[in-house]
Amino acid sequence: MPIVLEKASYTYAPGTPYEAAALCDIDLQIADGEFIGIMGHTGSGKSTLLQLIAGLITPSRGKVMIDGCDINARNYNRDVLRKKLSMIFQYPEYQLFETTVEKELAFSLKHSGLPGKEVKERVRRALEAVGFSYTRVRSLSPLGLSGGEKRKVAIACALVTEPKILLLDEPVAGLDPRGRKEFLEIITRRNKAGTTIIMVSHDADVLGNYAQRILVLNQGKLLLDGPAKRVFTDIEKLEALKLGVCRPRKLARRLKECGIPFPQDIAGYDEFIAAVVEVSKKGGMSHEPDTGRHVYSR
Ligand SMILES: Nc1ncnc2c1ncn2[C@@H]1O[C@H](COP(=O)(O)OP(=O)(O)OP(=O)(O)O)[C@@H](O)[C@H]1O
Ligand SMILES: [Mg+2]
Repeated sequence: MPIVLEKASYTYAPGTPYEAAALCDIDLQIADGEFIGIMGHTGSGKSTLLQLIAGLITPSRGKVMIDGCDINARNYNRDVLRKKLSMIFQYPEYQLFETTVEKELAFSLKHSGLPGKEVKERVRRALEAVGFSYTRVRSLSPLGLSGGEKRKVAIACALVTEPKILLLDEPVAGLDPRGRKEFLEIITRRNKAGTTIIMVSHDADVLGNYAQRILVLNQGKLLLDGPAKRVFTDIEKLEALKLGVCRPRKLARRLKECGIPFPQDIAGYDEFIAAVVEVSKKGGMSHEPDTGRHVYSR
């Protein structure tokens, strides 16, 4: 399995008054090409988990293996990991510092050893992947772009190394609806092209619509792990934990409460619409405009 965590735990500042156990005994396996969403309350360990997978911190106990290698082993070559994996931190646009967009992206390839021509080609491909025209933006200052454009440059910086694993920490926070949609479409395209996506978000709707598998962290423990629609089926458990539930799942519950035999294993809007079509075909869902009540006719 490409990403494996074996009983991985992490404690910040051990042995000091600031000691904080952030993750406890995480067992996790992630296959190539998965789109994983991570949800959980603030402080539940989501960012710590991404940092463990990215090799930015070393587990206090347990192991993190990427493609069969313990990434914290003394003889592990970190250059291999840097080529395989990119991480986008929250508000990545604040990390832009170069004088031109082209230099900003090329910086990510500084230690790649690639010839100049290949670097240029990769920069062009990454900018086009996020919807920019290479010739239009290459000489612009990244700092002079709009917030959404800066975010796209930051994504392009992560894509330019052509990683097979992309870790995203709250990537849509602060984006307007159009920016969010564009961003999520870029990520979905990368995932369809084979990149493994691991995305942290507080937005259950985003996770329900885009992630195939959801991990729920609670107080440093992996509480739920499964296909998005299975995890959201457990709506009472999520609500008891005061975690967000995606809207399509809530709508499915409302329909059931109205007496419509509507499937409850729903996470995204596409699944919701497909279920509406299916239920309508089976018996028909009629709508009484005067009462606004939905009636399922047998
Ligand atoms: N640098 C640090 N030093 C000490 N404790 C930390 C540090 N970073 C995080 N923690 C603690 O570790 C726990 C997990 O933090 P983490 O940042 O992984 O949570 P999170 O789920 O990403 O939260 P959020 O949703 O707010 O981003 C929290 O209790 C936090 O206070
Ligand atoms: Mg965090």
